[in-house]
Amino acid sequence: MRFQTIIEPFRIKSVEAIKFTTPETRATALREAGYNVFSLRAEDVLIDLLTDSGTGAMSAAQWGALVQGDESYAGSRSFYRFRDVVQELTGFKHVIPTHQGRAAERILFHTVLGRESIVPSNTHFDTTRANIEFEQAEARDLVIAEGRVPSLVHPFKGNVDVGALERLLDEQGDRVPLVMVTVTNNSGGGQPVSLANLRAVRAVCTKHGKPLFLDACRFAENAYFIKLREEGQRDRTPKAIAQEMFSLADGCTMSAKKDGLANIGGFLAMNDDAWAASSRNLLILTEGFPTYGGLAGYDLEAIARGLEEVLDESYLRYRIRSTEYLAEKLIAAGVPVLQPPGGHAVYLDARALLPQVPPLQYPGIAVCNGLYVEAGVRAVEIGTVMFGLHPDGTETPGPMDLVRLAIPRRVYTQSHIDYVAEAVLALFARRAELRGWRIVEAPKLLRHFTARFEPLA
Ligand code: F0G
Repeated sequence: MRFQTIIEPFRIKSVEAIKFTTPETRATALREAGYNVFSLRAEDVLIDLLTDSGTGAMSAAQWGALVQGDESYAGSRSFYRFRDVVQELTGFKHVIPTHQGRAAERILFHTVLGRESIVPSNTHFDTTRANIEFEQAEARDLVIAEGRVPSLVHPFKGNVDVGALERLLDEQGDRVPLVMVTVTNNSGGGQPVSLANLRAVRAVCTKHGKPLFLDACRFAENAYFIKLREEGQRDRTPKAIAQEMFSLADGCTMSAKKDGLANIGGFLAMNDDAWAASSRNLLILTEGFPTYGGLAGYDLEAIARGLEEVLDESYLRYRIRSTEYLAEKLIAAGVPVLQPPGGHAVYLDARALLPQVPPLQYPGIAVCNGLYVEAGVRAVEIGTVMFGLHPDGTETPGPMDLVRLAIPRRVYTQSHIDYVAEAVLALFARRAELRGWRIVEAPKLLRHFTARFEPLA
């Protein structure tokens, strides 16, 4: 490359206006939302970094593909196109479309888990954990120790602690129906898993006769990190690396709302005939016929095309670099940021940022709410509110208190990101003023989505 500047590898053909608001109107909107940014109206948000899920911009080719959607109830052409793309990428025998990732999780877990089951992973994401706990089973996080220290730099902080996995399988293997690995590790900071680690996990699974499933939401970003950071991988294409990642597994759950570059959709894929047959029966019960699984034919087309576009190297270079760009600005100003930055998001370390707010007073909520009122930027807490409440009703500090600034794919430009950096720095400058929060109302499962808060005096 002759020039240093990495530009957005697209032109913009259609735009959507954003609404400018004032700190006063935002303070009112947030109060009315019970001080939970999930309950805001999206229109009242200036830059929405709540999630990278389903919030990306589709390409002209994807919009074009929508018109090609075959809406036949059974056996639609769009299903076969979707299935072929997924099979070419993953190599899995059975491809079961679902309306999003969590539907794939629910179907898989209801099919294979019993009450005493344990499902190990590097780190389960919230819906994955909740779907396991909903089956009265246990979700066990076995990420490497480095993956739990926000300030520590390590190329593959999403790696599984293979020794811990081996011990679990030695001691309680009869309770483990499958092993999962989340690529990239979202709850752990969007951190990648190396091929070497996946191979080691595969070997342990083979030794113990356990199937390995990937939670593949951000497989392309993971593949690109492998290309950048793992020895001997630099000359391979992201696609070849992704194919090798899948070849090490026996199945996957996938949210196409991330690296499927689609606004909705997902799939469950696997090699096991019996599990696939049971999964399809459950699918028919709640999602739909096996050739559409709760999606329209046009969604299947958009996903098929998205799965191809996402592996484009110029896209992945821009994607990973533009996230890193935001992190660099924050790090340069001394803001505690989880390092290295993830593929889809920059994670602020709220526990380090607000030492005056103990974890059970939710420093992540203090940062999210502060950022929204300050600048109209919406982020999400990935911390004690999300992970601190246990099935037995007790509450402990989450593993970390992070605030995730998730970057929707192909949506914001560099000036939006410059604004976000400025907003975080403004909040950082007055961090000493921020106080803790208390939950006044919350459900028992997935409380972060709907909890209502009150500021502490
Ligand atoms: N697994 C991971 C690693 C995820 O990040 C998500 C969703 C899911 C599974 C569930 O997929 O939303 O399609 O049902 N993560 C979104 C997020 C919601 O904001 O990180 P879904």
